[in-house]
Amino acid sequence: LFCEAGIEYGESGCGIPSSSSSSSSKILIKGGTVVNAHHQEIADVYVEDGIIVAVQSNLKVGDDVVVLDATGKYVMPGGIDPHTHLDMEFMGTQTIDDFFSGQAAALAGGTTMHIDFVIPVNGSLTAGLELYKQKAQKSCMDYGFHMAVTKWDEVVSREMDLMVKEEGINSFKFFMAYKGSFMINDELLIEGFKKCKSLGALPMVHAENGDAVFEGQKRMIELGITGPEGHALSRPPLLEGEATSRAIRLARFVNTPLYVVHVMSIDAMEEVAKARKSGQRVIGEAVVSGLILNDSVLWDPDFSIAAKYVMSPPIREAGHGKALQGALSSGVLQLVGTDHCTFNSAQKAFGIDDFRKIPNGVNGLEERMHLVWDTMVESGQMSVSDYVRITSTECAKIFNIYPKKGAILPGSDADIIILNPNASFTISAELHHYRTDTNVYEGVTGKGKVEVTIAGGKIVWQNGELKAFPGSGKYVEMPPFSYVFDGIEKADSSYLSSLKAPVKRFRSST
Ligand code: URP
Ligand code: ZN
Ligand code: ZN
Ligand code: ZN
Repeated sequence: LFCEAGIEYGESGCGIPSSSSSSSSKILIKGGTVVNAHHQEIADVYVEDGIIVAVQSNLKVGDDVVVLDATGKYVMPGGIDPHTHLDMEFMGTQTIDDFFSGQAAALAGGTTMHIDFVIPVNGSLTAGLELYKQKAQKSCMDYGFHMAVTKWDEVVSREMDLMVKEEGINSFKFFMAYKGSFMINDELLIEGFKKCKSLGALPMVHAENGDAVFEGQKRMIELGITGPEGHALSRPPLLEGEATSRAIRLARFVNTPLYVVHVMSIDAMEEVAKARKSGQRVIGEAVVSGLILNDSVLWDPDFSIAAKYVMSPPIREAGHGKALQGALSSGVLQLVGTDHCTFNSAQKAFGIDDFRKIPNGVNGLEERMHLVWDTMVESGQMSVSDYVRITSTECAKIFNIYPKKGAILPGSDADIIILNPNASFTISAELHHYRTDTNVYEGVTGKGKVEVTIAGGKIVWQNGELKAFPGSGKYVEMPPFSYVFDGIEKADSSYLSSLKAPVKRFRSST
């Protein structure tokens, strides 16, 4: 369901949108249950020129206003996906969804902002950012950037200053896996953490022991295991747990907050839990695939089916997903992303004879809001307020753009969804809005449907029709020193004074 040439597209076909009601800049959402992470109430929401103007009951408006009836439905902040890879060069190919197709699909699923990872060009952050600015010009929803760091020298260190002070980037990702491409060593990790801390930028880690993964892959090939199941077998939870623990301990050594992306196993989740219990500032991100899928699919005798589930860290054995759901409910993990990173069947087939060549990544941008609702809220594991927190508000807070994003409050951006808890959804490659030809949630159905998406104050999704305009999405600058840095220096001073006492004793005794 995708029209490359058309600007407007949806179930009803393509065409150039007229200046119909949907492009009105004044919208009143009447009678819904307005849900924020901190509070919920039945109220009307009035939007003008892309901004929420009022949230109160029985608002009266003129007849130039589009009125949406939300009675019996939830009115919530649009989803924010903290983890995507659109138009990314990876494993010798390019992800198939770009900043238009991926975002358009996101809008159809109730996500109105995402944060994508800029990949440096030959280690250069500046060149990487220039490239991603080009890629993102076709955006149809708001977006921000994280920056990956893949090598270390004085130039990179200075570029990090520039990214934070001039370019609106407040997070840097370090890959502890992908040996031979993105992988960095502990020395770089420590330098990077120190630099991040000094800038008030959040370090993020892909936590798998890349050297051990390399060894695990060799083992599988030697055993003649070349299919997609070899992917899971070569990089067990043990290696994710080890790297998560190492990153957390190094972050503690540097005394910086840390964000662990795509926590996929009990092993990694328990490291996050242990650190948080001890008072360390560690943020754990779940991804939808890790919450819902299990690794049995990697054993499917049909390569084209098994290969679509290959991502890193791998989808784990049944049991891990349920534990990760519990970790979200209990606050051990704080938010849900997707790691949306799509390849079509032809690209996945690069690894038909060798799982190491299957481009890693799965879809999720369009399905996240639905699947998290069904899995967490419809199942009774989580309140609606907590749903808003893990799909939107917490991300906005961590990346310091709250309450512009992540809230239904006067003055916030009008990124809003209306979810009908009594309607149902069905997922399939036939119906999705991606450019990719497969879907890892093929055939999944559930309760709770995003019926309306409003992005930047415009109705972009309603009655199964999508109106997405290339160029309408805006870059969201994210300032440093978000709340996760509050008071971090206090631990530095108590560390220093804890050193001084024994040093003094030692000196005076010699
Ligand atoms: O398999 C994955 N996750 N692909 C995207 C790159 C990454 O590791 O996040
Ligand atoms: Zn069409
Ligand atoms: Zn990763
Ligand atoms: Zn990723």
